[in-house]
Amino acid sequence: KTTYYTERYRPQFHFTPEANWMNDPNGMVYYEGEYHLFYQYHPHSLKWGPMHWGHAISRDMVHWEHLPIGLEPDELGTIFSGSAVVDWNDTSGLFQGKSGLVAIFTHTKDELQRQSIAYSHDKGRTWIKYAGNPVIENLGIKDFRDPKVFWHEETNRWVMVLAAGQKVMFYSSTNLLKWEFVSEFGSCDGAHGGVWECPDLFELPVDGNPNQKKWVLQVDLGDGSVAGGSGGQYFLGTFDGKTFLNDHAPSEILWLDYGKDFYATQSFSDIPEEDGRRIWMAWMSNWKYANDVPTFPWRSAMSFPREVELKTMSDGQVKLVQKPIREIETIRTEIVKIANEVGRECDNLLADVQETLFEIEAEIELLTASEFGFKLRKSGMEQETLVGYDVEKQVLVVDRDCSGEHDFSEHFKGSNIVNLPLTNGMLKLRILVDTSSVEVFANEGEIALTNLIFPDKEGQDVELYVKGGEVNVISLNLYRLKTTWR
Ligand code: FRU
Repeated sequence: KTTYYTERYRPQFHFTPEANWMNDPNGMVYYEGEYHLFYQYHPHSLKWGPMHWGHAISRDMVHWEHLPIGLEPDELGTIFSGSAVVDWNDTSGLFQGKSGLVAIFTHTKDELQRQSIAYSHDKGRTWIKYAGNPVIENLGIKDFRDPKVFWHEETNRWVMVLAAGQKVMFYSSTNLLKWEFVSEFGSCDGAHGGVWECPDLFELPVDGNPNQKKWVLQVDLGDGSVAGGSGGQYFLGTFDGKTFLNDHAPSEILWLDYGKDFYATQSFSDIPEEDGRRIWMAWMSNWKYANDVPTFPWRSAMSFPREVELKTMSDGQVKLVQKPIREIETIRTEIVKIANEVGRECDNLLADVQETLFEIEAEIELLTASEFGFKLRKSGMEQETLVGYDVEKQVLVVDRDCSGEHDFSEHFKGSNIVNLPLTNGMLKLRILVDTSSVEVFANEGEIALTNLIFPDKEGQDVELYVKGGEVNVISLNLYRLKTTWR
């Protein structure tokens, strides 16, 4: 089936449902050559409502094919967020000795939230809800949801991390059917501006060294995030199959993304060891205005998939870094290549460029300028999205105040400002621009900023702007990106 997406604001290389409301990515798993993406879906409306799991598959995480709805509400309730795993060794006994997919999700009825499972014998095409649901009863916790499950090799057990109020709980199981509570984390750690949701937990090597690993615990918060409203944080530490210990002081907050639109991040389960990457996607919106964004007949998009790594920074601290997956190269056409050119005020090195779907990769050295950066989706003096560096303040800024439509919500306008001292006077930027989003990665993904934009003017000019002096553009590649939907 061929999908053509021609509507105003329709993302062209990001995942969107064909029609109606979507929120969190769910059930992300790789199995038999296919990446599965399920998602919180309301098939009857453009607004959030009784939740289903929508479904799509892909062979490269770039081109997606829509499939029929995966999970529908039943007598135990609607289907909130959760994850999926491959039960390779039939630990559950649900697969007659073969392997198969198991989805673990939250059943929600009235205010009651309980954990349930479903399984599939046909590579996720159809699902059977387990007769013994729910597999984890609610013992009186109001917000008790979003199970993320993985196989923990060292203890030979499944582990579940679950959001519970403003902390996470860990459960363990040998068969995915019977779960035992083992510990909890977070009441006094990290950011607490809102309810905790959609946790994820996995181990990664530091600087690619398999002998030095750390566990990453990712947790979203419903409000009070760094850019306002909903957003994500992460913790680094150790995990022994039961207990997570934070490497950092409880008061330290590590933000995932400094933009307003990166929420409910989930990583793929079961990516083969030969590949070895940890890849995640997030819902590209914010609960402050998600129900009001001016798109029709669908609402919301996923972020572009990102590879996640741990790296030691120049100050000796280990941090999580993110970059678009390398498969993006398959939709690129190079249209500008600049090497060692001086950029100065009133001299736009990209003056001839007009693009709406594109990627910029740039390495810029500060000479004497006081400010420099890019103006994207620019339309004369009227409209632009600014990605700029303020030399005196040593901050990176993404400003969507004049990016286009914004009056659907008072919370939409505004800019993200992040401290980012230059090393040796250099700034590296990678920027993905789609019809209605801008994803910025600074210094090899040390800082990410994700934001929606709704340019309602022509908005195709690209400007490399410089103020108060000069910069040296060491390299700049601009690629046109193809739509992934035809
Ligand atoms: C996060 C969230 C989850 C919940 C789902 C409901 O965006 O609130 O905690 O499971 O959305 O759609």
